[in-house]
Amino acid sequence: MLNAFRRRQSTQSQPIAPGPCNNLFQQIFAVRRDPLGVLLDAQHRYGDVVRFEALGYVSHLLCHPDAIRHVLQENSRNYPKSVSYDLMKPMMGEGLLTSDGDFWRRQRRLSQPAFHRQRIGAFAAIMTRITEDMLDRWQPVAARGQWLDVSAEMTRLTLSIVSKTLFNTDVGVESNIVGKAITVAFKEFDRRLAALFALPDFVPTPSRRRLKKAIQTLDHVVYRIIEERRRSGEDIGDLLSMLVFARDEETGESMNDKQLRDEVMAIFLAGHETTANALNWIWYLLSKHPTVERRLHNELATVLGGRPPTLEDLPKLSYTTMVIEESLRLYPPAWVIERRSIAADQIGPYAIPPGSTIILSQYITHRHPACWENPESFDPERFTPERVAARPRFAYFPFGGGPRICIGNNFAMMELQLVLATIAQRYRLALVPGHPIEPEPMITLRPRYGILMDLVPRTEAETLRD
Ligand code: HEM
Repeated sequence: MLNAFRRRQSTQSQPIAPGPCNNLFQQIFAVRRDPLGVLLDAQHRYGDVVRFEALGYVSHLLCHPDAIRHVLQENSRNYPKSVSYDLMKPMMGEGLLTSDGDFWRRQRRLSQPAFHRQRIGAFAAIMTRITEDMLDRWQPVAARGQWLDVSAEMTRLTLSIVSKTLFNTDVGVESNIVGKAITVAFKEFDRRLAALFALPDFVPTPSRRRLKKAIQTLDHVVYRIIEERRRSGEDIGDLLSMLVFARDEETGESMNDKQLRDEVMAIFLAGHETTANALNWIWYLLSKHPTVERRLHNELATVLGGRPPTLEDLPKLSYTTMVIEESLRLYPPAWVIERRSIAADQIGPYAIPPGSTIILSQYITHRHPACWENPESFDPERFTPERVAARPRFAYFPFGGGPRICIGNNFAMMELQLVLATIAQRYRLALVPGHPIEPEPMITLRPRYGILMDLVPRTEAETLRD
């Protein structure tokens, strides 16, 4: 985060927001050690707008829902993506997540139809089938009473789902290699973000060599997917076909391989890592809250009675949905969004100078004491329609908001509902006693040591008792 501080350029008449005035090195060490703790502490000490300044670079943490709405929605043109996203470009190139301006607008327009509700509805059966295939693989593990690293399983599952539904391809055996490559790339990204001074890009440090290799691995998979589709020449109406066969309205040109690679890579990465972590936290929270778990089982038994869920069942799985929403509140997989201000602005009474980095953190605002009573407790009842309607819209923004809202939000919610309903009918996942759980805030919020769990098969008697 410190790397992203921008030089302050304005002299405003509005007051400057309060913030810590400890020295630069104290700030760096504190942020590196515990970014979530630093931001939470800053909000408790200084309030809804907190100013950080180091070496003339200014950054503002905005915590109040109104400020978040202002930046993401009402005045979004003044707040493009921050320089931190540039650090992701070696991996993501100019894909949807990292591009900006007219280029981003065009690419978003091209991809959007692939995510319309009706079209993604057709993926429900594939999502359930891939989940059931995984459960079949789990059977011998459960029979042996072995522990399972659920986080590795969730990565593999969501990678398979996104590849099959959007690109009609199987990553199969490659998913482990891809998962490892992504971890390496994310770690390097985080290291760069926290680094004060960067050596020039051509200096081959060990971590850069690791990053290069990880990108080569990912490129290999992504270019293979593109090549297969180009060779088949078939337009099967999925996202990949839309991208491969899209023509620019003015020039009539199609995307070259590099542009395609960037778009596919962005969806490939953004579309599975977040959902996998959402599932990780859901399993963890359920294992810690047996009453909630029992109510979830109860709903599944009433609505589904042991059969796999379908698209038509989803509106009836209201408690299941509330469990997912509450998990995304406490452990938002996308825990921070960064922007930069172009023109001077005002947030509340405070001046925001041009060039300031703007930090919006779901992890912080989802715990805002003015919006959430007893914010650390896990309580799906917060998401009844009445209680949602009584809260400001941007008190909760796990998928961001405004024009850059997550393109896959409906896809993700459907996937989470189907996967949770399918697995929870067959197994209870019990956290292995003593296994440490700690959130690791990288690009996404991951469980630092994975999640080791026992697979407890759910018997028919248990289902009926529920
Ligand atoms: C629980 C799951 C997910 C969460 C929490 C999540 C969260 C987010 C957030 C917060 C953003 C906005 C980032 C910003 O404003 O800087 C975003 C953007 C994006 N997400 Fe997701 N996401 C999820 C699942 C997905 C899925 C399943 C896909 C695709 C299949 C996807 C693809 C994208 C893309 C391409 C963008 C960039 C959109 C743009 O800027 O136009 N995400 N996501």
